[in-house]
Amino acid sequence: MEPPEVGELTPPDRMLMGPGPSEVHPRVRRAMSTPLVGHLDPAFVDLMDEVQELLRYTFQTDNEFTIPVSGTGSAAMESAIANLTEPGDTVLVPDNGYFGDRMASMVRRAGGSVERVDAPWGAPLDPDDVAAACETHDPDVVGFVHAETSTGVLQHDVPALTETAHDHGALVVADTVTSLGGVELRVDEWGIDAAYSATQKCLSAPPGASPLTLSERAVEKVTSRDAPVRSWYLDLSLLADYWGEERAYHHTAPITNVYALREALRLVAEEGIEARWERHERVAGALRDGVEAMGLGLASESWLPSLNTVALPDGVDDTVVIDHLLAEHGIEVAGGLGDLAGDVLRVGCMGHSARPANVLALVAALGDVLADQDADVDPDAGLAAARRRL
Ligand SMILES: Cc1ncc(COP(=O)(O)O)c(C=O)c1O
Repeated sequence: MEPPEVGELTPPDRMLMGPGPSEVHPRVRRAMSTPLVGHLDPAFVDLMDEVQELLRYTFQTDNEFTIPVSGTGSAAMESAIANLTEPGDTVLVPDNGYFGDRMASMVRRAGGSVERVDAPWGAPLDPDDVAAACETHDPDVVGFVHAETSTGVLQHDVPALTETAHDHGALVVADTVTSLGGVELRVDEWGIDAAYSATQKCLSAPPGASPLTLSERAVEKVTSRDAPVRSWYLDLSLLADYWGEERAYHHTAPITNVYALREALRLVAEEGIEARWERHERVAGALRDGVEAMGLGLASESWLPSLNTVALPDGVDDTVVIDHLLAEHGIEVAGGLGDLAGDVLRVGCMGHSARPANVLALVAALGDVLADQDADVDPDAGLAAARRRL
């Protein structure tokens, strides 16, 4: 067999303003080019401690069980859901976006039965509806998506949800994939029992080592299960031996991804978590002001700074806008999913991508592309409004 001829790797230079990945900070890229050590080397063991400490700060939690799960956000998601759902458990899952559906699939695979809390795509859950569903179904676990990437909806009133769930004896699992490090999130103060996330959103590291934190109550449920978790790889009682006191071999950690995460979290600590939330709000606020002044609206009832769903004018083809932004301006954004497919653009403003220069370039390019399509927009007004906010 002849060896295939494959050229040198030369990825195009993109401005990543979609639903993730976001742009990786140069310091994180440099951390990834440092030499490997063994995953049980004393130097790596120290580094694991540092990553756990930095993760606790970023999640705003004292939870001992706070680790990066090897794999993308879905791996952290599945470990939370599969470990906290015992066969026969009832789990409440939101019905207002794509990632609530994924939660539901994972619950079923773990042997649980799913009950849905309804809200339209584009709206958050109403805490009264969660309370009514708890009354009716008496769930063992209540899941919610803090930042729904498919709709650009921020779930507010989180303490109201967790209080209701706890009153019914249920544990609360939060999807914080698009909020961790970008939007206010206080795991302990808000009473969240398990929160999972990913690195390629507001933390601006490549995907591959995904944050997860469990409260003591959640750890108790994991360690006192009757049946073992069906997945060996994601069994948190086994992973606890690797990330806990023992540091016993379970699998080979993705060392380079852990380096990347450590550097990304150091950047969070240096900036300060509150200042970082404020930056996301300010920079994404300029994006919002810009698109609104241009003549467009946001399609979400509960604004999520890290993911903005921009409603497109009638008659504009979303794929043409997305293709032109990429081909002519090197800017990546995405289209809508599910009920919002074809109607919106999903524009991320996450981590290292949440910078004034990126937002100004995006607002200018979007105005040009829409004007080229004869949409009724005012690109100059958009750019002026974004500048004013910054
Ligand atoms: C809200 C939410 N949950 C879960 C995931 C799954 O993460 P990953 O694609 O890293 O597996 C994503 C990915 O975009 C997400 O946005």
